[in-house]
Amino acid sequence: MRQCHREIARWMEPLGAQVRVDAAGNFRGFYPGEHASSPRLILGSHLDTVPNAGAYDGVLGVVLAITLLEAFKERKLPFGIEVVGFSEEEGVRFGTPFIGSRALIGRLDDELLNLQDAEGISVRRAIQQFGLNPQEIPRAHVDPDTLGFIEFHIEQGPVLEELGCPLGVVEAIAGQNRLEFIFLGRANHAGTTPMHLRYDALAGAAEWLGEVERAAKAVPEAVATVGKIKVKPGATNVVPGEVHLALDIRHRSDEIRTKIVSQLIRKAEQISERRGLRLQHKVLLCQQAVRMDGFLLQQIELALQKAGCVPHRLVSGAGHDAMILAEKVPAAMIFLRTPGGISHDPAESVTAEDVEKAIECGLHLLDQLASPPVFLKRTVRA
Ligand code: GLV
Ligand code: MN
Ligand code: MN
Repeated sequence: MRQCHREIARWMEPLGAQVRVDAAGNFRGFYPGEHASSPRLILGSHLDTVPNAGAYDGVLGVVLAITLLEAFKERKLPFGIEVVGFSEEEGVRFGTPFIGSRALIGRLDDELLNLQDAEGISVRRAIQQFGLNPQEIPRAHVDPDTLGFIEFHIEQGPVLEELGCPLGVVEAIAGQNRLEFIFLGRANHAGTTPMHLRYDALAGAAEWLGEVERAAKAVPEAVATVGKIKVKPGATNVVPGEVHLALDIRHRSDEIRTKIVSQLIRKAEQISERRGLRLQHKVLLCQQAVRMDGFLLQQIELALQKAGCVPHRLVSGAGHDAMILAEKVPAAMIFLRTPGGISHDPAESVTAEDVEKAIECGLHLLDQLASPPVFLKRTVRA
């Protein structure tokens, strides 16, 4: 990440931008506007990624933002542009996502700072180990003169490809919950413990896993995933005594999602009770669905049309920093077509032609925003 920050700084500084890394590990590059008192618009996306990832999820949004600045050729707008490369959007290390963007809206609190990774290192400690000072997190807040946040991102799904559209505009982002479940049984000898005398934590967890899949399949548009599992002690000849599972569950309706989560907690409790296991669960994230800003959405649609694209509206199933920033500033997203709908995998890709369209659309959008006085009067919500 340090190398990545250095590289981006090397691209931005020659454009006249001031760069820094805030105390939550977000890269911040500020390209000033016409006047020292000009408000600012934030552009960007995240720089972290998932294990065995593709090359575009997140980072493309940062590269596109810098490309737009390069295209200005030192021209100044009535607003400055802050490029943000968010840290820890995916939630791989600490089990909960959006750590960087939460710092920008004042939600990187003690509870989050005390969260630990698999090695027992807290977020606070990780920040210190990176050479940053957690006490300076308040300085990461969005500036009060911020007009909005716009994020370019790959769609990570098949919709735009099916429609034959290079770009689309996001109208809402589905909410998501992330939870950790721990099934506790009793580790014992695999050869000598009769089947009826076992408290097999993994067999209980496996039964529950079937329920997770059934519950999501029973509700249209619901998705539920257990993408991480740890078995202790983890030996072929030992009955598993402890299993940790990470549940990720999403739906655009907060009510429906919350209902499925409650149902799955109940199922885990019933299975544990029947099998003589103990159960613990911890909520790591409960993020509501978020609508994007209506004004920015219309401006993006106009820019898409000017770039010769049909302004198709989508709901994002993936989570994004834009859904966090939306709590404080008008936020919007532009999606790029994702070949095969493949993401979170090395096969993830984009075409050069679609990226070119995104740049064209971004330049139209910035031109539009630089003119309507209604946009320039907007500021951060208290
Ligand atoms: C971010 O990639 C997410 O998990 O939606
Ligand atoms: Mn991702
Ligand atoms: Mn992403």
